[in-house]
Amino acid sequence: MEINEQQHRAEQTVRALVQRSHRGLEDLTLTADQRRLTPGPGEYLIRVGAAGVNFADVMQTHGTYAGGPQAPYVAGFEAAGEIVGIGPDVESPLRLGTHVVGAGPGAFAQYMTMPAAGVLRVPSGWSDAEALGLVLNWATALAALKPLGEIKTGDVVLVHAAAGGVGQAAVRLARHYGARVIATASPTKHDTVRALGADAVLDSTRPDLAEEITRLTGGVDLVLAWNRWDRPRSRSACRSPNPSQDVSSCSVPLPATPL
Ligand SMILES: NC(=O)c1ccc[n+]([C@@H]2O[C@H](COP(=O)([O-])OP(=O)(O)OC[C@H]3O[C@@H](n4cnc5c(N)ncnc54)[C@H](OP(=O)(O)O)[C@@H]3O)[C@@H](O)[C@H]2O)c1
Repeated sequence: MEINEQQHRAEQTVRALVQRSHRGLEDLTLTADQRRLTPGPGEYLIRVGAAGVNFADVMQTHGTYAGGPQAPYVAGFEAAGEIVGIGPDVESPLRLGTHVVGAGPGAFAQYMTMPAAGVLRVPSGWSDAEALGLVLNWATALAALKPLGEIKTGDVVLVHAAAGGVGQAAVRLARHYGARVIATASPTKHDTVRALGADAVLDSTRPDLAEEITRLTGGVDLVLAWNRWDRPRSRSACRSPNPSQDVSSCSVPLPATPL
């Protein structure tokens, strides 16, 4: 009887990384007594096989990610794993046991819930870890380049922070669309970015960045600038009189304004 009760308790509690404050990573704590969730309407319960770490997670440890949860909370926004529960009102649900990748709060745990409408099946032959990035990094890069940036074959595209998750996807996709890719990254990451297919990789901190890009390319058509420093540093590298679109955040589609 005692053993059964212990087992029952063990099944109801899960291990998770809990952020207890907004003071940064030092307050991210591993706990073993987090309550296992029940999927709500329109949700799957996932046994997490792999979780992704993105810039949003770093920002969220300091409470600076817009719309992020208030401490204490189970950290993590992205995971892949096996469907082990299906909530009510899921339309055409996938079968229990299907591996999916998706986003939702509480990904750094053994189990999490995800909105069923936002998941993708882990492609056949892929591990959970290999599927990470499909719904966040790759979708963000695709949105920035295609519907927002209207990339065309032969464009010169400048990808800032090209060694990051979104940046790596953007380099690969821009090459796929036939663009010439100029990338920026910290010097220790240049080989990684070149291996992805970038035509040139520049030190992201060099003071003459825009001049060097103009010298190399004659001007760029599209800039993927992820923060408020990248935009002014790239402005004068844009072609004139039709400066490129500036896609600084894909959660908010920006109009095609001159940089
Ligand atoms: N991940 C997503 O799905 C997603 C969705 C929407 C928007 N975004 C935005 O896209 C940008 C990139 O996100 P990500 O998830 O790809 O980031 P990431 O994988 O963490 O990469 C970030 C890159 O930015 C550079 N960087 C510049 N300042 C930094 C700092 N203070 N701390 C750490 N890295 C810094 C680093 O490259 P260097 O060392 O080479 O400079 C690093 O490789 C962020 O602004 C994020 O908010 C991301």
